[in-house]
Formats: sequence, C-alpha cells, structure tokens
Amino acid sequence: MAESMKGLKRSHRCTEVSNENIGETVTVMGWVQRRRNLGALIFIDLRDRSGLLQIVFDENSVGAEGFAKAETLRSEYVIAVTGKIQKREAAVNENLKTGDIELIAEQIRILSESDTPPFPIEENSQTKDEVRLKYRYLDLRRPDIQKNMMLRSRVIYLMREFMAKEGFLEIETPVLCKSTPEGARDYLVPSRVHPGNFYALPQSPQLYKQLLMCSGYDRYFQIAKCFRDEDLRADRQPEFTQADMELSFVDIDDVLDVNERLLQYVFKEAIGVEIALPLTRMPWQEAMDRFGSDKPDTRFGMELKDVSEIVKNCGFGVFTGALENGGSVRGINANGQGKMPRKKIDRLIEFAKGYGAKGLAYLSVNEDGSYKSSFAKFMTEEELTALVRAMEGQPGDLLLFAADKNKIVWNVLGALRLELAKELNLLDPNQYNFLWITEFPLLEWSDEENRFMAMHHPFTMPVEEDWDKVDSDPGAVRAKAYDIVLNGTELGGGSVRIHQNDIQEKMFEVLGFTKESAYEQFGFLLDAFRYGVPPHAGLAYGVDRMVMHMVHADSIRDVIAFPKVKDASCLMTEAPGKVDERQLKELQIGILE
Ligand code: AMO
Ligand code: AMP
Repeated sequence: MAESMKGLKRSHRCTEVSNENIGETVTVMGWVQRRRNLGALIFIDLRDRSGLLQIVFDENSVGAEGFAKAETLRSEYVIAVTGKIQKREAAVNENLKTGDIELIAEQIRILSESDTPPFPIEENSQTKDEVRLKYRYLDLRRPDIQKNMMLRSRVIYLMREFMAKEGFLEIETPVLCKSTPEGARDYLVPSRVHPGNFYALPQSPQLYKQLLMCSGYDRYFQIAKCFRDEDLRADRQPEFTQADMELSFVDIDDVLDVNERLLQYVFKEAIGVEIALPLTRMPWQEAMDRFGSDKPDTRFGMELKDVSEIVKNCGFGVFTGALENGGSVRGINANGQGKMPRKKIDRLIEFAKGYGAKGLAYLSVNEDGSYKSSFAKFMTEEELTALVRAMEGQPGDLLLFAADKNKIVWNVLGALRLELAKELNLLDPNQYNFLWITEFPLLEWSDEENRFMAMHHPFTMPVEEDWDKVDSDPGAVRAKAYDIVLNGTELGGGSVRIHQNDIQEKMFEVLGFTKESAYEQFGFLLDAFRYGVPPHAGLAYGVDRMVMHMVHADSIRDVIAFPKVKDASCLMTEAPGKVDERQLKELQIGILE
C-alpha cells in the first residue's frame, strides 16, 4: 500500500548531494529508474528532476522489512529513502554527477507503485512521437525534456528580471478579446450572455499594449499566451508564448538597444553564449537580394546574385521570358559541387518546384574549364563566360539559377540555399548569428484578397520620407518595422507605431477599410488616440522559439509542456472534443451537419 509523507522531509534532491556529504544522513525522494539485485545487495538508481543517485539496500542497514520492500520495487515506483552517503566502493560512474557516491539505505517508504510504463523513461527516447504525446506526463519525466523545461523557466525568469530592472511593468491583458480579422485566423469563444456573439482569443496583446501607452504606463512587459488558428509547422503552435513589450517616447534605436542588451543578458546567463553588440542591421531589401529571405541564416555564404543584366539578351527563352514578365534571373554558387550527380540535381529541381519554381537551370564548371549545363546550348561563349564570372564560378562549382517573378526567385533560391547548407553540413549549431532586419515594406499586395495588406500590422509607422508615396506607389513605402533573426529563424518582431490619427486613418484607407468598418473594429483605439497619445514602439519574442534554439530542439513541441500536434489536437486530453447538447443549447449554437 502506498505510504504517506507523515513525519518525513526531503533533505536533498538526488544530485544535490556530493562527496562533501559523505557520512551525513539524508532523505531523498523520487522515481525508481532501475533495480539490480546482487544477492545480498539491491541497487536502485533513484531519479528526480535533478538527476540520478545510486541507492544501496543491505539488509544489515535497512533491516529485514526494508529489504523486503526493496525487493518489490519496479520501474517508476515513487519512494523515499533515508540513509548515509558513502563513497562508492566500486563501479564509479563518471557520467553521473553523483557517480562517485551512493546512499546506504536505512529506511525506505514506498510512496506510490507504478504500472509498467508504455515506454522507458530515458534520454534520447526512440519512442514514436504519438506515443510520447499521448503519455506526455511520462514523456515529461525524461531527463532531456526536463532540461528543456528547466531552461525555459530560467529564460523567462531572466527576462522578467532584466525587464524589471529596466523599469518595465508587467501588466496582464485580457484573453477574452474582440475579434479583429487582420492577421491570422482567430480562435473564437462563444458568449452565453450574448447569444450569437463571440470573443476572440488574442493573437497578441498588440492593441492593449498600445492602449497602455495611452494610459501612461510608459514601459510595459508581459509573458503572454497568444493564439493563432494557422497551419502548424516545426516552429509554430496554435497557442504559444510571447515575451511582449511596448515603450513610450522612443524611436527605433531605443527599442533595438534595450532588446540587444536583453538578448545579451539572457543568452549569457541561460546558456553561456556571448553576443557581441551592437548586432548587425540589414534592410529587408538587402536581405532578400543577398539571401532570398527576410530571415536569413548568415552562418554560411552561398549568397544570391542577380544576373538579369547579363542574360537579358541571351537565347534562353526561360531567362528572357521571366525578364520580359518583370521578373529576374538569379543564381547561387554551390562551391565544389560541380560533380553532383544528375539524379541529385533532379532532386534539387523537384525541391525548387515545391517552392513555386517552374524549374531550375544549372551549370557546372568542369575541371578543364568546360561547362555541363541545362542551358549552355542557348548561349554564346561570351555570355556563358560573363555569367560564370558574375557567379564567381571556379572549376568544380555548381551554379543554380531560377528565373521568375522576384518573389518566387527569392523564395526558391532562399530555400535551396538552406537545403544545400544542411546537406553539405555548413551549419554550425554552436554559432549564434543574430541579425536585425529593418525597413520592411509597409504593405504587401495580396492576390488572394486583391488588395494591399499590412506586412506587419496596420498600426506600424511608415518611414517618414516614404509616406508621400503612399498613394502613387504604396508597395514602395517602407515601414519602421524590425525583426530579430537568429540563424534563419524569426525570433521576434516589432515596430514603431502610428500615433497620429490622420496617418492611421489613411493607413486603414489604403488597406481597403471604409471609415465605418475601421471604426467598428478599432474604434476604441482611434478614440483613445484623440486624448493624448505618446509616440510608442514595441516588440515581441516567441519564447518557445527562443528556447528551442537554445536547446537545439528540432521541434517546438520539445520546449512546450503540453503541445498540440499538426492538426492542432492534443493527443493526451483529446482536445478539441465534442460538448454536451446542454452546453450548446445554453450558447444557442447548433452544429451544421
Ligand atoms: P509577430 O506576429 O511577429 O508580432 O509575433 C512575434 C513573435 O512570436 C512568435 N510567433 C510564434 N511562435 C510560435 N508559434 C506561432 N504560431 C507563432 N507566431 C508568432 C515569433 C514571432 O516573431 N504584436 C506583434 C509584435 C509587435 O509588433 O510588438 C506580433 O505579434 O517568434
Ligand atoms: P524547359 O524549357 O522547360 O524544358 O526548361 C529548360 C531548362 O530550364 C530545364 O533545366 C528547366 O529545369 C529549366 N527551367 C525551366 N523553368 C525555369 C525557371 N523558371 N527558372 C530557371 N530554370 C528553369
């Protein structure tokens, strides 16, 4: 029968004892990792969140009853053991923090028994994800996941500490909000009191934090749960955590400065990584031109080159056709890959097609200086020479080209560059390349909606000197927006906000809102701005993504205690689930078959 805690107190976690405690009596509690019987001795590895400690049961020390209990122990039983720490006689385990000591049991209590777990609780589990997530409470016992969760806790603690020291106030904003359709899809919550009306869960605290600036809380911070009903990926969850901030009476430099110091502090204290400041800043246009991405991984080169000028009059219709359609021809140089077999190149072409390419043109420079190419026959010797020179092609190199609308060319080559880097092992996991991307376009044309959309959100301030282009060339207006990128991941983003009603109204107009519809959705913000609003700016980090990078996890799920899977369900609780007829009735909701 399970015994209670009565009269017992834990004195140490398993690895809080060391050879300095030799001879002391301690009480530890935890889970049985494994048991070995060696006749007169029983050995137990006891596990808690700090690690493992070896416990020795010897009938002379623990008594006949205690020894009998020890004989019944199985994996995952929860026990409390009191005894003396002693130096290990034999089998010193250098892999363990407590590898040179052990505890000689004098008393044991079995606090709880355990069924045989569906998978072994151990590091680097080979268990299938579905099983791990169904039994997440067991999966969370595994030392590698526990390390992730402990680091996550530490990161959040360090952020709070830093922000508090810098004079930020932590203020909670509502989770039941008004739906504002700009952005990702909302999660909706029906109102019982107002049948037919819905709250939305916040995609971010954006509007509230701007209102807090109106209210005079000039430095706000929050660890905020956010909800977005969008397709999941390896670094996306439907609910995730932001470290969210907003500052008043500031411009871009002030925000970047405090955030650089925050990053420096957190990365140093959490994982011992030194970040040299100031961080590089790169305008969006440059990032796209050089890396084909607004979140470039700068740990390796293989930069894009625009060769449109060189090929504009060549005989290769694919290239000239793309240019005639207002597109471009760009390439990357996979150094030393000239001998890549045709099959592998074909795979790259298929990969490129997955990113919207119609094809991929290639040219390898042979050791004798001749070319093997899918398009060389359409070009003159001079054109080829100029092309190879522009690409800095050397014998043994493989040049890959995409011709299309700029957006597709960037997308394809940006992805290809990363794919090649992975294949060629060019990514050093211990290098942390931080980078600010700045001067994003304010607006982005959406073919789907047939209108301009805000690239960041509709409250982002345009670059002052571009504002006069808002009617004539809206796509060319830059925003005072910035993203912080780490090794190819967008860790966070923010912007200087519009605080002038006339600019905000114009912005809504450009986005296709009527005055009435803008007012209906954002009236409270527009009203608030009539009563004195300070210039303000802010930023939010994806905390999950940050921790994911720190621990080199492949999936964001490995740093979230109870994550959801690809179809946004929880395999453990089986959420989302059906609800009672009665609950639906109360909400006046009927389900369409
Ligand atoms: P943004 O939409 O860029 O900005 O979000 C900020 C950061 O949150 C993280 N993130 C996510 N993490 C996990 N799963 C998701 N589905 C997900 N979506 C976003 C990213 C991202 O950089 N209110 C603005 C910020 C501001 O302007 O101050 C905002 O939410 O790391
Ligand atoms: P095609 O004329 O379609 O037979 O293509 C000739 C070569 O050009 C093939 O190697 C294609 O993979 C490549 N190609 C086709 N479309 C593109 C494109 N948009 N950009 C780059 N290469 C392309």
